[in-house]
Amino acid sequence: MMKRLRQRSASCHPSHFRRLQNLWASSIGLGTYLGDADDATDARYAEAIRAALAQGCNVLDTAVNYRCQRSERTIGRTLEALCTEGTLTRDEVILCTKGGYLPFDGAVPDDPGRCLVETVITPGLASYEEIVAGCHCLAPAYLDHMLRLSLANLRVAALDVYYLHNPEQQLDEIGPEPFLQRLEAAFALLEARAQEGAFRYYGVATWNGLRGRPGGRGQLSLEALVRLAERLGGDDHHFRVIQLPYNLAMPEAFTFANQVVGGEPMTVLQAAARLGLSVVTSAGLLQSRLTRLPASFESHIPGLATAPQRALQFARSTPGVTTALAGMSRRAHVEENLSLTRQPLLDEESIRRLFDRTKW
Ligand SMILES: NC(=O)c1ccc[n+]([C@@H]2O[C@H](COP(=O)([O-])OP(=O)(O)OC[C@H]3O[C@@H](n4cnc5c(N)ncnc54)[C@H](OP(=O)(O)O)[C@@H]3O)[C@@H](O)[C@H]2O)c1
Repeated sequence: MMKRLRQRSASCHPSHFRRLQNLWASSIGLGTYLGDADDATDARYAEAIRAALAQGCNVLDTAVNYRCQRSERTIGRTLEALCTEGTLTRDEVILCTKGGYLPFDGAVPDDPGRCLVETVITPGLASYEEIVAGCHCLAPAYLDHMLRLSLANLRVAALDVYYLHNPEQQLDEIGPEPFLQRLEAAFALLEARAQEGAFRYYGVATWNGLRGRPGGRGQLSLEALVRLAERLGGDDHHFRVIQLPYNLAMPEAFTFANQVVGGEPMTVLQAAARLGLSVVTSAGLLQSRLTRLPASFESHIPGLATAPQRALQFARSTPGVTTALAGMSRRAHVEENLSLTRQPLLDEESIRRLFDRTKW
């Protein structure tokens, strides 16, 4: 795997590939959240994915609900075509998806409530009580169904990473005790499916759940999650990857000691390292709001031509980050962002200086 990956990315700096548990992952990954649920966007993503894989980006991130399952289906079709053409083998790609949110089928239906009843309640995948905000569910039968749907959409026998999607959404709604019970049931299912080979690792992909103050509303303890996984799967449990937003405007994973491990306060990145978790970061461009930056960033994140490159250089260079995701549905954005991978990383001291007002 690594030999082919390295050949395909001969111009990348050696720091570009990192260990994601026992896999090799690129420092920038391609995300597939944004964009319309239509054929034109599917075609653009297919082209972007081909370009990204050709240039040494091997982490693809999606979710069953993204663009009404179209993102998964586009990845599935594109990977299958590349493998058939002989330009790619499945093991060169780290395929990551998520379950939790109700997925529509190709387009947003006129009556989403009826869709929920017909696809979840009537088939007995979950009860009304297990669904929050009319769209989010962690019930094992529901998750199992979502996993099968993702495998079919992605046209593979197994995934690399399966995330619970924004589990904190349930915590906010139902409170800590019932949340822990739901999480335990979900982890038990995922641990069993990992042991059967449906995916290598499972994890949580969060939005707010790892960025707030300790003990605050909707906050997750990484130590508690790992202890839960250990209880269910022993030392060889498969809860090994977390995802959270991280960018120049949301730097908490690096700057905010909001986790406690062994009684010691620390940041998410430090806690993840201590607990043996790999960290994938999302929203590296703050959903395109960081595609323009003040001119002063040019000297603080030097040697790069554009603001998106500077923003992604920050995310992928931060110690403890395995892969920084950038949503890219356009080939031109792939070219621009991945040309960054020919450069060395920004050093840790320069990253720390970004948060020191006296240095600006
Ligand atoms: N809770 C979660 O689990 C969660 C939450 C958010 C995100 N994610 C994951 O993380 C991925 C990345 O986050 P995101 O997509 O939300 O936001 P993002 O990566 O911060 O921004 C993506 C946006 O930036 C644009 N862009 C990319 N490169 C550009 C460039 N060089 N110049 C100008 N614009 C550029 C993209 O446009 P084009 O599409 O036109 O190329 C897209 O509109 C997602 O796709 C998803 O896979 C997970």
